[in-house]
Amino acid sequence: MCSTVADKVYTIVDRFRDTPGSLIPILHAIQEEYGYLSRDVQAMVASELGISPAKVHGVVSFYSFFTEQAKGEHEIGVCMGTACYVRGAADVLEAFQNQLHIRAGETTSDQRFTIGMTRCIGACGLAPVVTINDDVYGRLAPDRVPELIEKYRRQ
Ligand code: FES
Repeated sequence: MCSTVADKVYTIVDRFRDTPGSLIPILHAIQEEYGYLSRDVQAMVASELGISPAKVHGVVSFYSFFTEQAKGEHEIGVCMGTACYVRGAADVLEAFQNQLHIRAGETTSDQRFTIGMTRCIGACGLAPVVTINDDVYGRLAPDRVPELIEKYRRQ
């Protein structure tokens, strides 16, 4: 691993070292810095704290706000809440998956797009709803998906 990453991880661990229950704040701080928690980083944290890598991995897997995958430049969130689901969110999700050749939870190999599923974002009147980064798209028909992807590809 690049030494600057290692240095940064050690600095973060040091900042929380004497705090009881420091594992979660440490993982949070590292994810904030790098966007995800690779297995290498998890192993470094484990070794610094004198705990097993399995324990660190158990915490990372348990909490949904931790991720082990690098996120793409553009994060697509297809709302799978009830209102969106009954109005065709599954078809919208499938259109994104087919267009980008990845499944939900994955990132394209060029690191441009990540597809995720979200809970209700409180815009049910616009169902089905998709977010891309900070933008919200309502009443999104699957046939608009290629045009949307093209728009973000150009950015
Ligand atoms: S269910 Fe999708 S915005 Fe509420």
